[in-house]
Amino acid sequence: MLEAIGLHKRFPQGDTAIVAVDHFTYRFGPGLSAIVGPSGSGKTTLLNLLAGFDLPDQGQVRLGETVLSQQSEDARSELRLRYMGFVFQQWNLIPTLTALENVAFPMMLAGKRLKERQARAGELLEAMGMGRRMHHLPHKLSGGEQQRVAIARALSLNPPILFADEPTGNLDSASGAKVIELLRAQAQGGRTVILVTHDLELAQKAERILHLRDGQLIREEIIPSLLPTP
Ligand SMILES: Nc1ncnc2c1ncn2[C@@H]1O[C@H](COP(=O)(O)OP(=O)(O)OP(=O)(O)O)[C@@H](O)[C@H]1O
Ligand SMILES: [Mg+2]
Repeated sequence: MLEAIGLHKRFPQGDTAIVAVDHFTYRFGPGLSAIVGPSGSGKTTLLNLLAGFDLPDQGQVRLGETVLSQQSEDARSELRLRYMGFVFQQWNLIPTLTALENVAFPMMLAGKRLKERQARAGELLEAMGMGRRMHHLPHKLSGGEQQRVAIARALSLNPPILFADEPTGNLDSASGAKVIELLRAQAQGGRTVILVTHDLELAQKAERILHLRDGQLIREEIIPSLLPTP
């Protein structure tokens, strides 16, 4: 579904350049994949390439039959809206919109009708255990609650691919565990969930762990726990 082929990304630095992603090749399938590596190993840069926010110097990102990394900026935005959802560490929610309005926002961009937006946003927030907080503004919510709203928003257009970059970074361990459980549930439901974290313990909750060093995929670890038992 989402495939990286020989992705390479440099950032110019004076006379030289930093290689942030170094010939990265991987096919992301359904389930939860964690990308781990030390600070500066290229995790966020890789995620930006996979989502088409940024373009590689070499290589391709393929979304099914489409080469995402060869599309125009507008076309990439369109594909993101249709196929991808995002949860980030912070600055996730629009501060002037309630939880419900935040979740409904991508549906507005996609031209969904108000009734449908509100119904779906309400359903998703209920499913995240946020039914009683729907009409609160983000600053009235705890970090963990805000992150649950962000997950609901990321799911509002039912995307097959979900990206999360350090989604538990600001949270206490109990709230973090809850966020990971929600991501796991999405993965078990057949979505392709790509989690970026520097927390190795958290990464053990994934089915596959990709270890990045200096932009290179140095090891893939398969964790059997999430695989269906026969
Ligand atoms: N826009 C940019 N311009 C120049 N250098 C950049 C840029 N973005 C990232 N880099 C460099 O690329 C390398 C990889 O950065 P990246 O943010 O992808 O790492 P990371 O693994 O996400 O780190 P962290 O765990 O700290 O978030 C780093 O050396 C960083 O300084
Ligand atoms: Mg990062």
